[in-house]
Amino acid sequence: MNILITGGAGFIGSHVVRLFVLKYPNYNIYNLDALTYAGNLENLKDIEDRPNYTFIKADITDGEVIDSLFKSHKFEGVIHLAAESHVDRSIEDPLAFVKTNIIGTVNLLNAFKQCWDGNFNGKRFYHISTDEVYGTLGQKGLFTESTAYNPNSPYSASKASSDHFLRSYGETYKLPYVVTNCSNNYGQNQFPEKLIPLFINNIINNKPLPVYGDGNYTRDWLYVKDHALAIDLVYHEGLDGETYNIGGFNEWKNIDLVKLLCNQMDKKLKRPIGSSEKLITYVKDRPGHDLRYAIDASKINKELGWRPSVTFEQGLEKTIDWYLENKEWLDNVTSGQYKSYYKKQYN
Ligand code: NAD
Ligand code: TYD
Repeated sequence: MNILITGGAGFIGSHVVRLFVLKYPNYNIYNLDALTYAGNLENLKDIEDRPNYTFIKADITDGEVIDSLFKSHKFEGVIHLAAESHVDRSIEDPLAFVKTNIIGTVNLLNAFKQCWDGNFNGKRFYHISTDEVYGTLGQKGLFTESTAYNPNSPYSASKASSDHFLRSYGETYKLPYVVTNCSNNYGQNQFPEKLIPLFINNIINNKPLPVYGDGNYTRDWLYVKDHALAIDLVYHEGLDGETYNIGGFNEWKNIDLVKLLCNQMDKKLKRPIGSSEKLITYVKDRPGHDLRYAIDASKINKELGWRPSVTFEQGLEKTIDWYLENKEWLDNVTSGQYKSYYKKQYN
């Protein structure tokens, strides 16, 4: 079986690629990635020589290239993770998100449809989406699979649009799809523009921790390897045309999370308890900042038996350990372009 994983050099994608390559030696795993600032083949160094793994450098916004790859490789399964993924960048440059997240997804759907021309038996297109498409919650309630879409950022609007195209291809062309909407991930190999790795990096370097607004925003955090396990399960056992929400059963206000992180970092770095908290700096809020995300993951739990395997404290400790042991990875990704992004965003 030939399986195409898009965005496999990124954060979540690299964990999915590794899991599939190691667990399914009889699948040919093709990792297609444009290697944007967020894509890094270092993430997959340990499996790059496996006989069932192939890397393809390509851009999903290039429809002709995508069509020809489907013609030559006949991908029976697609797990689509490639995306522009950072809300703050989407506020600066919405069109980049339209191109990759919407046009790129439609290019893949078209190529898959043309390749199989209605002979969809045994084929599957799995689209990885986000809980952010549902918009924001107030203090109460949870996102379920039937919560109406109400995206508030250019990022979430582009992901919502790609979800709609996916469903429309399911209805119109009978394309066999499945989609999951997951909450905030954290873990090894996450680019240090997102909250947790950014703050780990800043604590290491004694730099300010820029908390947006009053810090009373809530997110539901999931350890990335648990997300990868959920993706494996849904790819193999999820039902065609279904949506599954994936979450960590783990809500944290940003400021509480940051304080926990500071405490764990002080211990790891053997600094006096309280020293990292002194770096907390309240900065201008993100425009259109969603107050709260929280997932009701009971459907995937009841129907497929999935639950997170680690607690937040365990996952966070594994994450911190990895960043401290992989300073070179951090230094590599925070050189060059990253410096100008950081300056623009925070100075
Ligand atoms: P990421 O930014 O770390 O990685 C994205 C990958 O896609 C990178 O390797 C990048 O090079 C590649 N890519 C970007 N544009 C491309 C293009 N035009 N053609 C080919 N490749 C391209 O993202 P992530 O955090 O790993 O997220 C992966 C997917 O999961 C995304 O679809 C995202 O919307 C979704 N998601 C992420 C989270 C999260 O908390 N990170 C939560 C829920 C859903
Ligand atoms: P982020 O990791 O960007 O994920 P998302 O916006 O997709 O939820 O941000 C998580 C939360 O942390 C969000 O409420 C915004 C906040 N945040 C900060 O307070 N400061 C920062 O520098 C960043 C990057 C995020």
